[in-house]
Order: sequence, then C-alpha cells, then structure tokens
Amino acid sequence: MGSLSTAVDLEQVAYFLVTGASRGIGATMAIETARKFKPGSVVVLLARSASGLESTRSTIQSVNPHITVITSSVDLASASKELLNEILDKSLAGRTATESPFRLAFIIHNVGTIGNVTRKAIDLDERTSWEEYFGTNVFNVAVLNSCFLRKFEAVPRKLVVNITSKACLTPFPSMTYYCAGKAAREMYFRVLADEEAGTNLTVLNYSPGPVDTEMTVEIQGQSHSAGIREYFQGLRDTTTILTTEQTTAKFLHVIQTGTYKSGDHIDYYDE
Ligand SMILES: NC(=O)c1ccc[n+]([C@@H]2O[C@H](COP(=O)([O-])OP(=O)(O)OC[C@H]3O[C@@H](n4cnc5c(N)ncnc54)[C@H](OP(=O)(O)O)[C@@H]3O)[C@@H](O)[C@H]2O)c1
Repeated sequence: MGSLSTAVDLEQVAYFLVTGASRGIGATMAIETARKFKPGSVVVLLARSASGLESTRSTIQSVNPHITVITSSVDLASASKELLNEILDKSLAGRTATESPFRLAFIIHNVGTIGNVTRKAIDLDERTSWEEYFGTNVFNVAVLNSCFLRKFEAVPRKLVVNITSKACLTPFPSMTYYCAGKAAREMYFRVLADEEAGTNLTVLNYSPGPVDTEMTVEIQGQSHSAGIREYFQGLRDTTTILTTEQTTAKFLHVIQTGTYKSGDHIDYYDE
C-alpha cells in the first residue's frame, strides 16, 4: 500500500505556530507561509524579543490582512508546560480546538541557539550550561510539540517541522552543544514520525543550509576554530551564504510538493 502524501495545501484555514519568529529564518518563514493562508487563520509567533515579534507580526498583517496574528514574548529555555498550554489556549480565544474551523495545524520548531563556541568539547564540564542549552533546544521543543499535538488532535491535517542542520549529522569543531542538541532533537522527531506513520500527521526535518543571520555572525565571530571562522567568512566574501528568503522558498516548495516521506531530513541543497 502506498503511504499518504506528505504534500500540504497552505491555501486553507490554518492554525500556525512558529518559534524563534522575532528575526532570521523563523521570521521569514512565518511571513512567507502566513501569506498563503485563508481568512480565519490564526498565526502565533513566539520568541523573547517583543519588538522583533511585533515587526514580524506587522509584516504578516500587511501581506495578509484577513488573518489573526498573535505574538507572545516567552523565554523558551525555561517556559513550563502550563505556560505553553496557556499561550495556546489564549490564542484560541476561549474556543476549544475541536470547535475550531482549522483544517490544518502547523508548527515550525525553529528556535535555536548556537551555544558556547569559544570552548572545546573537553572543556564543557558545567552541567548547568548543558541543561540550559538542552532546555531551549531539545527539552522544551519536545514539550511544546506534545502540548501542540494534544491541543490540535481533532484537526484533520497536521504538519510538524523541525528546523535542523547538517550539524546533526556531522561533527563541527567548536559546535559541541549545537551538534549534540541538533542530533537529539532530530531523533525525537524521527521517532515521532515513525510512531505516527499512516496518520494525518506529517513530520519534516528541514536543514536550511548556511544562512546570513545573527547565528552565523556569532559563529564566525566567536568560534575557537579558525577553520569554522574562515568557512563562514568565505561564504560571506563570495556571497554564497544564503538569504532567509532563498531557504524559505525551498522550504515552501518542499512542504507543498511533498517529495519526502514523513520523518525525512531534507537539506536546502538536496535534489
Ligand atoms: N543560520 C544558519 O546558517 C542555520 C543553519 C542551519 C540551521 N539553522 C537553524 O535555524 C534556526 C533559526 O536560526 P537563525 O539562523 O535564524 O538564528 P537567529 O537569527 O539567531 O534566530 C534565532 C531565533 O530563536 C529565538 N530564540 C533564541 N533563544 C530563545 C529563547 N530562549 N526563547 C525564545 N526564543 C529564543 C530568537 O529570538 P529572541 O532572541 O527574540 O528570543 C530568534 O528569533 C535555528 O534552529 C538554527 O539552528 C540555522
């Protein structure tokens, strides 16, 4: 028997949540995706910076005035399950997800931090630093994902996207926290995809390629590895580093054409 298509039609009434939507890849993905939704859709943007979220919100409203855009300034390193559920409940304005008009429930787990790139793996001996890193990048990603999928269980089509990286497959010097976190995070989503195979839930691990954002500026400026600093310097000098618009265009093509199977790792440079 053939498996269900992973292609998603964005031109419908959707509930859409993006983490790390205050800048960078998350902001552009939120804008370019929300542009396509039908009136009645709800978009929820999470990050810490209220001004960054507001800028993303106002751009979305200017490209698609007939949808509701809600922002919530939250620190995803420490947010409790209760707080995350409260944010979801508030965005539904008293309705239960079952009474809602949504045909699609879509979440992009984009939040990510690079971690301390000034130190080598051998020097990372602070348990609290490990916990803080994994809190933001792995633990709360899984917790939010559970809260989201429980809340929208009755919605007929669900898409979960994990923004991953080549660093989950390949070790890069100075990026210990990042590589370890991305590997753990992607494996969580692969198990989810496996357990939910054949249902109305699709999972995509999307690797955006090297993109010009604050994160890559930070790696280039702070990595203890000369090779890593030179790699990003080279991408900038030759303007081969990607823009957030380029990677978002590829991402939208992938989710709308569904040329992958649930749980796959798809890279910007694939195909
Ligand atoms: N740039 C690349 O080359 C590249 C390559 C592969 C994968 N990625 C992945 O793409 C995703 C986005 O990265 P980016 O390059 O766009 O990075 P970025 O510009 O640094 O953006 C990171 C986003 O995450 C949010 N964030 C960070 N810590 C947070 C926290 N504690 N609570 C809530 N929100 C938090 C930031 O918002 P606030 O600071 O306002 O909270 C911001 O919106 C990440 O998962 C990254 O690993 C990036």
